[in-house]
Order: sequence, then structure tokens, then C-alpha cells
Amino acid sequence: MPTSTSYKGGKSKDEVSVSGKKIYKMSSNENPLGASPRAMAALKKHLSSISEYPPPMDYRFRAKLSEYYNGVLSPDQFVTTNSGVANIDLIIRGFLDANSECIYCSPYFSAYAGFPKKVGAKAINVPLVGEKFDLDIRGIENAITEKTSLLFITSPNNPTGSYIPKSQVDELLSILPEHVLLVFDEVYYQYADAEDYVRALPYVLEHKNVIAINSFSKAYGLAGMRIGYSYASEEVATYLQKLRIPFMLNTLSMEAAIGAMQDNEFIEQTVALIHKEKKFLYQELDAIGMEYWKTQANFIMMRPQMTPVQFEARMIEEGIMVRPLPGFGAPDCVRVTIGAHEANEAFINALKKIS
Ligand SMILES: Cc1ncc(COP(=O)(O)O)c(C=O)c1O
Repeated sequence: MPTSTSYKGGKSKDEVSVSGKKIYKMSSNENPLGASPRAMAALKKHLSSISEYPPPMDYRFRAKLSEYYNGVLSPDQFVTTNSGVANIDLIIRGFLDANSECIYCSPYFSAYAGFPKKVGAKAINVPLVGEKFDLDIRGIENAITEKTSLLFITSPNNPTGSYIPKSQVDELLSILPEHVLLVFDEVYYQYADAEDYVRALPYVLEHKNVIAINSFSKAYGLAGMRIGYSYASEEVATYLQKLRIPFMLNTLSMEAAIGAMQDNEFIEQTVALIHKEKKFLYQELDAIGMEYWKTQANFIMMRPQMTPVQFEARMIEEGIMVRPLPGFGAPDCVRVTIGAHEANEAFINALKKIS
């Protein structure tokens, strides 16, 4: 039976049916271009090998990840899991127990608050502040105790689309005691174009106590394959990699991810499409007078003039799936994934109709 600590993912297309209407899924931040063609080719190539076990400890995949990072991270600095969310779960199981605490900042990705409860740990919310959803660094400093083991931050953030400027990450790390591991979720990093956007990589290279969460579900278009990874110091990564169940990842998802990593062209096309369509949506939303926040990711948070659940239901009648955000700490907002132009136009037309 689902509990309040479960992570509730977005609905699938099969769960909504509106007779005769085309459904546009703008609720799960998937890639509107589908999957990387190199990933698809890798899948076909490796299909015949599924009767054999994959390499132990995902060695080939971790070696390819190291190559992808130009060798600045060693294969032993990667933790490979069957999704980004499984990585978050593993970190929580590895570092939290009934006597420890973690901190997250709302609006937030719900796993950070729900999963710690499964191991009996306390999850403390220090909300983001202001129009730009900045980190409340003093608030975080005050919330840290001797029991705090993990601090979750997300940049670009789901669901706000905001990001944490480099100066704030620097300041945060300067006040963070050694016993707190910073979990830096960067699964939407490909879409960020702000000049002062920073990933976790430079901090991991400076030997700061940071672990970076990544996923192949978003820009690479492999949400259905379920594959993700994190990188950290060798000490943290080796500990977590050994904590996993053996052969957690399957051959096909790893080969698809290896193919996708080599597909710069596909990522460039994806990012160009999202940036172009984001401008289109901003223009149209401004014209309609919808309240929304500028985004560094592939989705836009909006505040409709009806409850998010009513908005979701009205949009489904028009064939559009959106995500209501009460479960993300944004009780009066919805999140809309930026789609291909046809989907974005359909969304705007539906919005005009229901407003
Ligand atoms: C911020 C954030 N982190 C992690 C994930 C997990 O992605 P996945 O489990 O599909 O790899 C998501 C997915 O929505 C996300 O939005």
C-alpha cells in the first residue's frame, strides 16, 4: 500500500483518456525529440547479448563515464544506479538512519523529504527565499545540528526552474561542517544557460564533500530505460557502489546510456529546441497574463487562477497533461514541460480556452 513516504511519479498517458483527442504529455519533463539515435542504435546492437550477465560492478559503464568527463573523474568516482531517484535512495540509505537528519529546500523534488522517512530520519525544510528562489544560507546554517548528515540542493531546481548562482554555492560550502555531505542534484544541467550557473563538478574536483546526482531520463531521452549515476570522492563513491545490489543495472540500459553520452549532436538539438520554445511560451504567457517564473530547465512553473488540481483536470479535457505541484511544496502552482512546437501551441490554445 502506498504510504506518505512513497515518491509519486507523474501519470502515464494510459492513465488519462479523452475520447478522440490527441494527448500531449507535458507533465514529466521528458525529451520531446524522443531518445538519442545513438542510444537506439546501441540498443539494437546489444539486444542479442541479454542472455549474459553484464560486467560486474558496471565497470564498462563507469569507464565510459570517466572518458566522458575527460578522465578528470576516475571510474571509481561514479555510483551507477537504475535511475536518478534510485541514486537518491541509495545515498539516503547509506548516510541516514533513525538518529540522523537531513535538510531540503522547498519547493523541492519530493524524494528528498519522503525517502529519509523510510529509514526513520528527520527531514527538515529550509524553504528557498524571494522571487528568484535563493538558498536561505543563514536558515540552513541554523538548521544544521550534529545529527545532520545530508543537505539536498537542486540546480536547476524542480519544480521552480530556478538555479543556484555560483556565489551562493561557494558561500554554502564555506559554512558547511565536514560531517554534512552536500547532495547536488543536477539532472537538468544541460538546459542551464545563466552565466553564473555552476555544476557540482568543480567542487568535487576541489575535494569538497559533495555528491552530484545525474540522470539519463531528461535531455538524453531515456526515461523508460531507468538509468542514472552520481559522482563524488572515491571514498564516498566506492562505499555507495558496494552498498548496491549486485547487477543493479541491465546491459541494455547501460549500452543505451553509453550511446547517448556520445551523441553531442542530439543534446545540442534538444537544448536548442527547448531554448527556442521557451521564448515562444514566455511571449504567449505574457500576452495571456499568466503568472510564471523564468526557467533554466525544460519546464515552467506557473500559478493558474484556479486550484492546480482543477487546472490539471481542465487541461486534460483539452488533451494536455500538466503537473500540479502541491506535493512539491508549491501548493498553488503547476509545472508544464516545454514540448515540441505543436505541443506548446496546443497548450497555449487550451489555456486561452479555459481562462
Ligand atoms: C530534480 C530531480 N532529480 C532526480 C530525478 C530522477 O530522475 P530519474 O529517476 O528518472 O532518473 C528527477 C526526475 O523527475 C528530478 O526532477
